Amino acid sequence: MRSKIIVTGGCGYIGSHTVIELIENDFEVVILDDLSNSTEKTLERINKITGVTPEFIKLDLKNSLETNKVFNEHKYASGVIHFAAHKAVGESVEQPLKYYKNNLYSLLNTLEAQSVNGINNFIFSSSATVYGTPDILPITEKNKTQRPFSPYGNTKKVAEEILDDFTKSNKAFSAISLRYFNPIGAHESGKIGELPNGIPNNLMPYITQTAAGIREKLMVYGNDYPTKDGTPIRDYIHVVDLAKAHVIAVKRLLKKEQETTLEFFNLGTGVGYSVLDVINTFETVTNSKLNYEITKRRDGDVPQLYASTDLAKNKLDWSANKKLDDMISSSWAWEQNLRNKT
Ligand code: UFG
Repeated sequence: MRSKIIVTGGCGYIGSHTVIELIENDFEVVILDDLSNSTEKTLERINKITGVTPEFIKLDLKNSLETNKVFNEHKYASGVIHFAAHKAVGESVEQPLKYYKNNLYSLLNTLEAQSVNGINNFIFSSSATVYGTPDILPITEKNKTQRPFSPYGNTKKVAEEILDDFTKSNKAFSAISLRYFNPIGAHESGKIGELPNGIPNNLMPYITQTAAGIREKLMVYGNDYPTKDGTPIRDYIHVVDLAKAHVIAVKRLLKKEQETTLEFFNLGTGVGYSVLDVINTFETVTNSKLNYEITKRRDGDVPQLYASTDLAKNKLDWSANKKLDDMISSSWAWEQNLRNKT
């Protein structure tokens, strides 16, 4: 019998790419999503790629009664991948309670519903933001976590602390927290990708929307950082590589291969690129000029962040395959498809 995996936030950017990889690895998928930052159309797009439409339940995980009911109806599921969360850094600074309420209630209700219904495997969608401003690079999982700059980031750190307490108290429960660096790119079919609501906060969608003529100009936030060209360095990772890591992590839990009941893994490529590297590569890949201007620094940006990938490689036998060119050309293909359709 196929194992069933509940994917919260499965209509979102990373969630939808992971659902495809799960289906392609013969898992049955149930998506729970409140569609607050995604669309039900994703289900059709997943079908076009895989030939399967996953079961979908519109659910606000803040509602504990409803959450318990849904998990009870799916109590034979083997595990949960929990993507559902608000993720806009700037908005979280303006509306911290919205972020703490949504991201933490959703987590607590999911864990409680899992525990009541005996669904004991959990993958958490975490972020490199839990490392704050790291003193040592590349960042290993042994680097100390620090209070992140934003309330959004802090919900990820607090969530990991909750998982630590919960896995200690409930010995039957196993969890893996995956700390993403900077996910970009889109599925090679061009049928799914990132769909930011309103003005994008992140670099890649801002670049593609500028090139598509939806935004006038990209503002580059500072060129006076202590880096090779003065712009901040990040570890960009293709979303499909990231999605594949989730499937491997699920299999690790199902085969009971984890070494401790809560494990942490960085998901990055280990290679850092500056903002200007990304712009230059975009211009080369698309053979076009991007309209951009250097402006002042953005609050909370750290100069450099890139992963040590050794632990994921050694324990999960996973490493990212796709290069920056692939990430950028797939983001651009998705942006163009999106605009042609609407
Ligand atoms: N940048 C610009 N102009 C823009 C957008 C971004 O110059 O319009 C720059 C930023 O200053 C930064 C780089 O591009 O140097 C990357 O910025 P992103 O917003 O794309 O990504 P961040 O590294 O700031 O944020 C990412 C995730 C967050 C997470 C954070 C933690 O999007 O969810 O990493 O490190 F919290």
